[in-house]
Amino acid sequence: MEKFVVKGGRRLSGEVTISGAKNAAVAILPAVILSDEPCIVENVPSISDVNISLRILKEMGAEVTMLGKDAYRIDPTRIDKYCVPYETARKMRASYYFLGALLGKFNKARVSMPGGCPLGDRPIDQHLKAFSVLGADYTLSQGMIDLTADRLHGNQIFFDVVSVGATMNAMLAAVKAEGLTIIENAAKEPHIVDLANFLNSMGANIMGAGTDVIKIRGVERLHGTNYAVIPDQIEAGTFMIAAAATKGDVLIKNVIPKHLESITKKLEKIGVNIEQFDDSIRVWVDGPLVKTSVKTTPHPGFPTDMQPQIATLLTLAEGTSIVTEGVWEQRFRYVDELRRMGADISVDGKVAVIEGTGRLMGAPVKACDLRAGAALIIAGLAASGITEIEDIFHIERGYDCMEGKLRSLGADIEKVNFPDSTSDSGNDGKKEAV
Ligand code: EPZ
Repeated sequence: MEKFVVKGGRRLSGEVTISGAKNAAVAILPAVILSDEPCIVENVPSISDVNISLRILKEMGAEVTMLGKDAYRIDPTRIDKYCVPYETARKMRASYYFLGALLGKFNKARVSMPGGCPLGDRPIDQHLKAFSVLGADYTLSQGMIDLTADRLHGNQIFFDVVSVGATMNAMLAAVKAEGLTIIENAAKEPHIVDLANFLNSMGANIMGAGTDVIKIRGVERLHGTNYAVIPDQIEAGTFMIAAAATKGDVLIKNVIPKHLESITKKLEKIGVNIEQFDDSIRVWVDGPLVKTSVKTTPHPGFPTDMQPQIATLLTLAEGTSIVTEGVWEQRFRYVDELRRMGADISVDGKVAVIEGTGRLMGAPVKACDLRAGAALIIAGLAASGITEIEDIFHIERGYDCMEGKLRSLGADIEKVNFPDSTSDSGNDGKKEAV
């Protein structure tokens, strides 16, 4: 097993380059299935969720060739399996994008229900509603979702909740459906726009991505493309907060500043200095950090995937801050770990009250999910003493060499091996999918 050991107290400074967006890549890779020709996808982050997506594609019969550190040629023309089994699907929540992509291409799909669920209830009713409205029948049996359709036809899909995954899956399924599909109450995240741009670059006809109404006119075939994934908004935001928490001065490169607006505005309120350039952003702190209130909402609001990181920063700010989670039912599981580091946080349902103590102390802690893990690294960087973070596989699902990038900014962070005390119980420590 591996853990991160962080010696806190070092101010981050220098330059860091952000990788491709996880939440775009995990939809774009399955979307290649829809093409009748090979595709090249660039700026793909080196993270375990991407490795799993590529493995699923290979298991289905796609030919995957690595062209460089972050580029792949994927030839989907020999795909002859339409199933993602439990063993693979449980490792990655986003395996549900194979449902939309396979259905859109072959009119059938068989994918295991995604596994473990550390953010509270994570239903996929809206995904299934979209498939059904487009003409597919679905059955759920023994943990597998089966989709079949004689043919898919365009239709009007109205989502009852704003869902990133359901919006992307509806786009994947509708892109080749006959006629016009109108998705209403669609999610507007940057990765929705990126998937639409990717599909359009293959010959799809999608309009309105990034607004709450997306119109898709079905096309008969999609051709190959060469496409670069957008930079990761959340990785960039995480480095912005790491810079702020250590009172550092960091230039964050390969970003789209527009995607970072809600994060930038909130950080400025807390007392963080931010200067935006075309594709980079400088973050530095030269004064006190002060309290604020934050509520997470779908894009363009403050992203839920930045909630643990900003809550951690607010433990270092003066005064009482309020953080309200507006997307997930349970996204405060990391608070117990921060308390072990001296944070004063009380949680009531979806609201956390943070009494800024201005300091954190190193402690052994565990990452309970991806962003919680990133928040603990930030806490460790800002804390006095040593922080040891276990269950780092969560972090490696979504951050491309986080420790290497932090080291290049002057952080003292190492990945070390340690014996797995639970190995007798057969627990491989990697059971949760998120
Ligand atoms: C995506 O998850 C992201 N994952 C999550 O990022 C992110 O937290 C989330 O969007 C919100 O931004 C990927 O893109 C792979 P949702 P997703 O469907 O699509 C409810 C990270 O840290 N809902 O937008 O699964 C749901 O319960 C991860 O990178 C339904 O009720 O999220 C939630 O309350 C974690 N029925 C809300 O909608 C449905 O059918 C938003 O979920 C679907 C969702």
